[in-house]
Amino acid sequence: MTKKVGVAILGLGVVGGGTYQTLVEHHDFYLETQQVDISVEMVLDKNLERLKDLGVPQEIIAGSIEEVLANPNVDIVVETIGGIGVAKAFVTAALRDGKTVVTSNKELICKFSHELEKIARRNRCGLYYEASCVGGVPIIRTLLDGVQANKIQSMMGIVNGTTNYILTKMTYEGADYADALKEAQRLGYAEANPTADVDGFDSMYKLSILSSMAFHTKIPYTKIFREGISQIDVKDIAFGRELGYTLKLLAIGKNTDKGIEVRVHPTLIPNAHPLASVNDSFNAVYLTGDAVDDVMLYGRGAGALPTASAVVSDVIYAATHSDVKYSTFKNTATADSAVKFVSDFSSAYYIRVSAEDRAGVLAKISGIFGKYGISIVELAQKGDAVGGKVPLIIITHKTSENSVKRAVEKINAAGVGEVQSVIRVEK
Ligand code: HSE
Repeated sequence: MTKKVGVAILGLGVVGGGTYQTLVEHHDFYLETQQVDISVEMVLDKNLERLKDLGVPQEIIAGSIEEVLANPNVDIVVETIGGIGVAKAFVTAALRDGKTVVTSNKELICKFSHELEKIARRNRCGLYYEASCVGGVPIIRTLLDGVQANKIQSMMGIVNGTTNYILTKMTYEGADYADALKEAQRLGYAEANPTADVDGFDSMYKLSILSSMAFHTKIPYTKIFREGISQIDVKDIAFGRELGYTLKLLAIGKNTDKGIEVRVHPTLIPNAHPLASVNDSFNAVYLTGDAVDDVMLYGRGAGALPTASAVVSDVIYAATHSDVKYSTFKNTATADSAVKFVSDFSSAYYIRVSAEDRAGVLAKISGIFGKYGISIVELAQKGDAVGGKVPLIIITHKTSENSVKRAVEKINAAGVGEVQSVIRVEK
């Protein structure tokens, strides 16, 4: 039997507009394939010009959130406004009224899903957020319904398209960071204020949501180590390539015997790793489970229609499932006090030193590494001396973050050169 479901869309910007378009254009297809008659009953957006451009009929344009929530034909509220101001107020109001919410808002889910889920449970309605992480890539559904048989051991993801675009330009065209960023802004990937993307906040919110789901325990974003790409020198990307590595901004979550490790930072990965060939604005997540072994999902992490694909898949899921599933962990504001987090994590490292070009310098530097128990895998002098200095590249074995920090301080104080870059390496 065909089920009738009414949707309201709040915010018809890029993602909301794409959602409207997809729901309208694919109406008959969903009726045929999913036996669900989904109609857009109301939309709410201050930009009436935009609504006109999208071809939204006048009679479904609401004047306020109250009007949307008072409409008995609205079963599902789609929030595509973004941010945690108005969006949070509207989502809270919708859940309080017992309306299922579908949102693409990663910051809202990352920071407030514990609060919102409580309201949803109380009112027996759903809270779905596939589109909040990695756009059109169905990573949340995969974690919930695809790999749930597994204890997930690790996840590594390129979860931000803007930074992946910038790094791709730097890697394959030799562009420097500032020029690559300008190009990303010109193409509409990066915002005028690019901080959320380039400093890793966007990836951090996504990692908080995804690792909580993967490891079945709350991982607040405050537990995530974060470093962005704005300090990356194109020279290091080129030297890394020569040594067989590609630079990516990775969101990494590991569930180890020592505890949970969550971090976002530029990472050199072997050129042969599947994530190394994820280029331009594409995203990918690489999961390892104890039964399935490795799984990789690849696709578009942003954009109107790819993100709408995720929003609408949640709308269809909500429309075709009468039972509601909530988090598979205690969804609280803070982490469970019984869970251990690893802060001094281990990694291999790429270190570039601008070293004095004279006898004894190499011995001094390797002596400092030895003193801190850091074993060197590879050491290469790159190019000729300029102004008496030469770039020295060191790749280490796996060692602790703290040991590297201490060794770097010692090298800088030893009068043999200056450490200019430290980049983590995942093998
Ligand atoms: N700004 C994000 C990106 C898309 O560049 O991937 C939305 O999360």
